[in-house]
Amino acid sequence: MRVKVPQTIVTFPSGSEIVVYNYLTKDAITCAPADTYWLTVAPDWTSIEDILVAHPHFEPQSLQHEIKALVDLGILLEEGSSNAVKEANYNHSWELGRAAGFFHFAVMDNEYADLSESVSRQKHRTLADPSPDLFWRNSDKAISLPKCNRAESQPLFDVMLKRRTNRNALPDSISLPELSECLYAGLGVVGFVKSETCLLPLKLTPSGGARNPFEAFVWARNVSDVSPGIYHYSGLDHSLEKLATDTSQLPMDLFKGQDWTDNMPAIIFLVAELRRTSWKYNDPNAYRVVLIEAGHIAQNMMLACANNNLTTCPTAALSHRHVSALLGLSDITQTPIYALLVGKPGANSDVILEPGIQNCHPTSHWAA
Ligand SMILES: Cc1cc2nc3c(=O)[nH]c(=O)nc-3n(C[C@H](O)[C@H](O)[C@H](O)COP(=O)(O)O)c2cc1C
Repeated sequence: MRVKVPQTIVTFPSGSEIVVYNYLTKDAITCAPADTYWLTVAPDWTSIEDILVAHPHFEPQSLQHEIKALVDLGILLEEGSSNAVKEANYNHSWELGRAAGFFHFAVMDNEYADLSESVSRQKHRTLADPSPDLFWRNSDKAISLPKCNRAESQPLFDVMLKRRTNRNALPDSISLPELSECLYAGLGVVGFVKSETCLLPLKLTPSGGARNPFEAFVWARNVSDVSPGIYHYSGLDHSLEKLATDTSQLPMDLFKGQDWTDNMPAIIFLVAELRRTSWKYNDPNAYRVVLIEAGHIAQNMMLACANNNLTTCPTAALSHRHVSALLGLSDITQTPIYALLVGKPGANSDVILEPGIQNCHPTSHWAA
């Protein structure tokens, strides 16, 4: 048996102890500072016999036992194990550095508070530590800007004003042309630009280095003229290809138990192929670039839907593991980031107030 310390270990203090955390597998132990020595004994594949030989002052059986325990806890890798394969994939494919890797894997599939827990936590916190202001004001020295021509004369503003998150979808289907416009607005290829090395696709949204890392997958649940199933959207071909027929799964299982998602006729998953961006930019800030782009794409999709009087509800509360399984993604650099749930809007249950100074205090809602 050969063992190795994974590249994806980070350590940090916790009181007088040290937490050793493998962010790729999410395994963690807390140990005495001296025990972190064992993280240095096998920087590459090393047999247990060689470790024993290098530590003659240790009783071999108990040392062997310790090493096996660290393997079982996910802190040391055993050659050929599933964790070792995972780490080899990471070493081969992850080009965005340790800081982005730590963030990316550590936040995946995390627990979310449900709505009532979240509300009660916020109410409780409001009492002792009110929310920071949700906007910054200017002084009376500021230049007043001319009123924006809102809906009256500007169709763009008209559409932007129509976009609203409404989680209450009617049981109606959405049409294929409506879905088509939404996908095209976000990811349709509208041209190419020549770079030093290749032709880069241009879309209706900007992309860092025109690397366009995103793909869209659609779970069509109730779209006219489309049989239910999981589809891939090709922005170049502007077509949908079926990958799987409808699943017995419920959307809420993919969205951390948010039950309103079960009523939505179409679900769009935005999946990043991180290597498209990291091929050019191999620094952790490129990870931010990818996340920013998800916002651009989603906004265009949401506006296209608003233009067709559809509601789109965005969510980042994904069960990444379940979504990846549903979409058949296995490469660690292909990662679901964001989802949009599209439907015909019913009555919006959100309380929406007109802008006005009386609504400016973030806690005024609770007090009311
Ligand atoms: C990145 C992001 C993640 C969101 N995640 C959720 C979510 O998990 N569940 C949800 O009900 N709404 C989610 N929303 C929707 C927001 O609650 C909504 O945008 C906000 O209340 C403002 O309303 P508006 O979209 O009508 O302007 C998300 C919005 C964004 C931008």
